[in-house]
Amino acid sequence: MEKWTTAEMPKDLSNKLYIITGTSSGIGTVLAYELAKRGAQVIGANRNVEKAKKAIDKIQNENDDLSSLRILKLDVSSLNSVREFAKKIQEDKSIKQIDGLLLNAGIMALPERKLSVDGFEMQMATNVLGHHLLTSLLLSKIILANKPVILSTSSSASSVPKDPKLWDDLNAEKKYNPWEVYGVSKLAAIHFRDSLREIFKKEGQGNKIKVVSTHPGLTATPLFDDSAGVFGKVFRIVKGLFMMTPEQGALPSLRAVLDPKIDDGSFIGPKGLTGFSGYPEQIKVYNPKLSLDPKLRDKMWNYCNKTTGANWTL
Ligand SMILES: NC(=O)c1ccc[n+]([C@@H]2O[C@H](COP(=O)([O-])OP(=O)(O)OC[C@H]3O[C@@H](n4cnc5c(N)ncnc54)[C@H](OP(=O)(O)O)[C@@H]3O)[C@@H](O)[C@H]2O)c1
Repeated sequence: MEKWTTAEMPKDLSNKLYIITGTSSGIGTVLAYELAKRGAQVIGANRNVEKAKKAIDKIQNENDDLSSLRILKLDVSSLNSVREFAKKIQEDKSIKQIDGLLLNAGIMALPERKLSVDGFEMQMATNVLGHHLLTSLLLSKIILANKPVILSTSSSASSVPKDPKLWDDLNAEKKYNPWEVYGVSKLAAIHFRDSLREIFKKEGQGNKIKVVSTHPGLTATPLFDDSAGVFGKVFRIVKGLFMMTPEQGALPSLRAVLDPKIDDGSFIGPKGLTGFSGYPEQIKVYNPKLSLDPKLRDKMWNYCNKTTGANWTL
């Protein structure tokens, strides 16, 4: 088994620009740190700018030069905030191209159904809809890069949903099961990867833009702090015992974005026996019956376009 670590990362990324959502905590902080440390222009997109700055301060060493890291305001659950953020990026003349868009921000299994400012179920709004719109609005700068990468963050929790009828109630109006909704939002990450690839192929950009997805592995981060039910309780108990560190949990995304051997359409995750820990490698998607179903994928795509108004003209 190949042991891919940060030692495999290019030493100099100063000609690259990455946008990462959710760098104020957990895996996202490490992603921003590891990329900026090697000179990449990194834009950390966060709902809480101060928290994101403090999170980076906490993990950086005295000798690190992180001057190429910027933190900008983005509440990815709000479509207006997404539009404002994308406008800033588009108008910023210093941003010539986007080499990587890392859709990392996420929330998990909110105990009660909560609505976003736009009236969408909060997990779907954060994990799926905001990222969908954001990608469409940044695409014109993504295609200007040489071999850009778009990364959608999935999870082994995508194996929780079993019923395709959930795709008829994507706003969870008829029934709200916190883990099922989270699982659907993480199946959507695979649907998103595949829908994007289809569009790019149709538009003759298939060989140019790489779209990949990851499962970080079971990683000790604040993601579990508010999650619902017995699952939530169990995760909080085992968190300090055998979960991976955020540094380990960041490896699948770093590899997916930086390793030229990773093919377009890959799913990268920890290759350990349980799928919860280990070094990042190409793994099989969870729940292929639902994650690779073209009808469900199209339903998700149409729902996201309808609710966000995203336009995919290249
Ligand atoms: N940890 C795991 O075991 C695991 C396993 C599988 C998949 N994942 C996925 O990995 C990704 C990172 O998770 P993590 O474990 O690093 O969790 P985390 O420590 O809770 O980090 C989540 C990040 O998303 C941000 N975020 C949440 N809502 C947002 C919003 N509306 N606008 C902007 N940013 C928002 C958070 O910001 P705040 O600090 O403001 O809350 C935080 O920076 C998520 O997509 C998660 O689903 C994690």
